[in-house]
Amino acid sequence: MTWLITGGAGYIGAHVVRAMTGAGERTVVYDDLSTGVPDRVPDGVPLVVGSTLDGERVARALRDHEITGVVHLAAKKQVAESLSLPLHYYRENVEGLRVLLDAVTSAGVRSFVLSSSAAVYGMPDVNLVTEETPCAPLSPYGETKLAGEWLVRAAGTATGLSTACLRYFNVAGAARPDLADRGVSNLIPMIFERLADGLPPRVFGDDYPTPDGTCVRDYIHVVDLAEAHVAAAHALASVPGRNLTVNIGRGEGVSVREMIDRVNALTGHDRPPVITARRPGDPARVVASADRAAAELNWKAHLGLDDMITSAWSGRQRTLPDAHRRRTRPGHGDRLRRGRRPGRPFEFGPEGAFSARFPVPGAGGEMCGGGGWDPGEATDDTQMAVLVAESLLECGGLDLPDVFHRFRRWAAADPKDIGLQTEAVLTGGDPWDLAAGLYFQTSQRAAGNGALMRAAPSAVYFAPSGRAATMDAARRLSALTHGDRAAWEGTAILHELIRVALTGADP
Ligand SMILES: NC(=O)c1ccc[n+]([C@@H]2O[C@H](COP(=O)([O-])OP(=O)(O)OC[C@H]3O[C@@H](n4cnc5c(N)ncnc54)[C@H](O)[C@@H]3O)[C@@H](O)[C@H]2O)c1
Repeated sequence: MTWLITGGAGYIGAHVVRAMTGAGERTVVYDDLSTGVPDRVPDGVPLVVGSTLDGERVARALRDHEITGVVHLAAKKQVAESLSLPLHYYRENVEGLRVLLDAVTSAGVRSFVLSSSAAVYGMPDVNLVTEETPCAPLSPYGETKLAGEWLVRAAGTATGLSTACLRYFNVAGAARPDLADRGVSNLIPMIFERLADGLPPRVFGDDYPTPDGTCVRDYIHVVDLAEAHVAAAHALASVPGRNLTVNIGRGEGVSVREMIDRVNALTGHDRPPVITARRPGDPARVVASADRAAAELNWKAHLGLDDMITSAWSGRQRTLPDAHRRRTRPGHGDRLRRGRRPGRPFEFGPEGAFSARFPVPGAGGEMCGGGGWDPGEATDDTQMAVLVAESLLECGGLDLPDVFHRFRRWAAADPKDIGLQTEAVLTGGDPWDLAAGLYFQTSQRAAGNGALMRAAPSAVYFAPSGRAATMDAARRLSALTHGDRAAWEGTAILHELIRVALTGADP
């Protein structure tokens, strides 16, 4: 099938496009770029710039690209803004959808998936919100989502269009730093914002009837959410005329206080929150029942809170201007002073020592680091080598900021093994092109063998490009974490040796 993804240049849409193409579906993005970014649309996916309010343009896009299914994410989504601009929200979210549905039903499209929201429930007074829980939205935004569901169902009933309304709970995280949410309307970015400004995170009320007195919500990783769209697309395709309404959450509650503690821990901050008055209209607890999604879509979430926080944090670091980013430095000086994470070098023993320790292959005989490593666990340089490889493949070449941010995201996730120098460089909050150099100037610490090991995949990647290109890539990659030029040259020589070996010659 070929799917039109409206709002595909937005935060969630960009993830949906990747999940759908990853599942073998053809996709076309339709977006007016009001909050979307064309860079988020992957190469090879056509982008049609237009509003859903423009019926003719939508109809042409459906025709030109022979669209058979639509995932409709294009909408305005700020609850607070909808209170002051309700007519704008009704026009964009309800009228935009009506115009789209008009074109869709005329063009013979078979399946339609709508982005709805837990905002349709308002203040549910239940432990787990099921799809049967009464809807009573508290904002024009929530109303437009509920009205959108009515439109979609009515069109489905009248025309046989298969429809699914997915009610997202609190969406967080990113597949890659450059795909992260750039707004600050959800709790995680709001905590980041306060920490970046040197302020304690704020808790709006700690006297709710919840275990720690703060509001409880259900958070879902955007990567899991995107997979739910694939599951919905397949569920609709297999049963024509279907009409589904499904919660998309994890079915697990996280309190505001728990979230702040976790963000502090994962980003290296130590900021206890301040308690302020309740905000009007905040329900104590909104947690999805995820049963229907499992039964009807055969889908459930796999990623947890830590993945959401660390990936959102990396995205924030990447998209901020350098000056602002500097202010988000997570106090690595404190961590180092406390000696929280001593470097644990890989142990190179004498010949035979490794197999003496792990004599039975497959029962602890896998390659692993020294110092208490479990079989299969990667040491820091191995892990970083994987990140280098992933970046080279996904970016189609050497994208130094991308590699650095992958390293940073990994460092923020509290890895079991990370050397002191690596940690200082990656958590210092300095820009990618200065971080290692600044650290070397102040510490004068020379490199170990890490620069060589972590850059090894680039040696293979650049080998076909010749000697100059591979040595240049080696120096630049090494410079991300090592400020001393000796490390750059060592890495460049390793690259050249690997290149020669790959040509079949004797290095
Ligand atoms: N982010 C959340 O936490 C969340 C939660 C529940 C539901 N949703 C819903 O998910 C959808 C996507 O949200 P997001 O977080 O990716 O927001 P976003 O602002 O990043 O993406 C919305 C995209 O739609 C485009 N767009 C907006 N109005 C348009 C129009 N009239 N015509 C064409 N394109 C238009 C924007 O340019 C943007 O690319 C929205 O429908 C939103 O209501 C989001």
